[in-house]
Amino acid sequence: MTIAANATADLYTDLLKRVVSNLIYEDAPNIVGATAPSEFDKQARLVGEDFPTVAHTMIGLKRLDNLQHCLESALRDGIPGDFVETGVWRGGACIFARGILKAHGITDRTVWVADSFQGFPGVTEDDHALDITMDLAQYNEAIGVPTDLTTVQQNFERYGLLDEQVRFLPGWFQDTMPTAPIEQVAVLRLDGDSYSATMDVLTHLYPKLSPGGYAIVDDYILDACREALHDYRDQHGITDEIIKIDRQSVYWRRTA
Ligand SMILES: C[S@@+](CC[C@H](N)C(=O)[O-])C[C@H]1O[C@@H](n2cnc3c(N)ncnc32)[C@H](O)[C@@H]1O
Repeated sequence: MTIAANATADLYTDLLKRVVSNLIYEDAPNIVGATAPSEFDKQARLVGEDFPTVAHTMIGLKRLDNLQHCLESALRDGIPGDFVETGVWRGGACIFARGILKAHGITDRTVWVADSFQGFPGVTEDDHALDITMDLAQYNEAIGVPTDLTTVQQNFERYGLLDEQVRFLPGWFQDTMPTAPIEQVAVLRLDGDSYSATMDVLTHLYPKLSPGGYAIVDDYILDACREALHDYRDQHGITDEIIKIDRQSVYWRRTA
């Protein structure tokens, strides 16, 4: 099943993007260490550089545009496979992906929603040095990261988008990725921030990414994530051009 130009679908997906990023009601961000209430910063929200208190995604409009570009391009070109996001927080980017499939009447692809649903893991001395230095778990509460599975499912429901085309993979990536019942991927969106999260996902899911499919890496700005990405690419001889989305994120299209 492929897609054709559709003005109504464009209107729906444009509105959906604005809603999941809450450019509509403009909620204030959480700011680590802030002592006074903060104010909505439109520029930060457009490029996904704040931690919203209410919005269902923190990736901002520009990265939502990129997600749409990748998914619709894969659909148009008949690239087989599902959409997967690893690191979903409140689920907004996956809700948007499900909305895109629905807008285009696609019934044979799944949106996979993978997260611990309990925030970033704590680090141990066995972890990569860059993960130990970052110690992301220390920010869990301050930026409102832990979001449980029921809350994310309820978020899908609010949009009328919780159905059999949405499947959840709760747990740590090191446990869920090796046995994930995902057969083929058209768009893989990594947003787990750390070296281990990035490497665990690439190791188990990149081999399932169809030629012509897209890999999107949200946290390229972080040393740990960037190092994992380059380690994996070097180990597997991947030379597809890395394209910048915004200050933080990149993607590439798999050629072979
Ligand atoms: C930056 S947030 C994701 C933002 C999200 N993509 C959005 O649209 O707003 C990172 C998420 O990754 C999850 N996460 C990080 N490391 C993980 C791991 N090793 N296993 C499972 N989930 C992990 C966290 O629970 C958190 O929800």
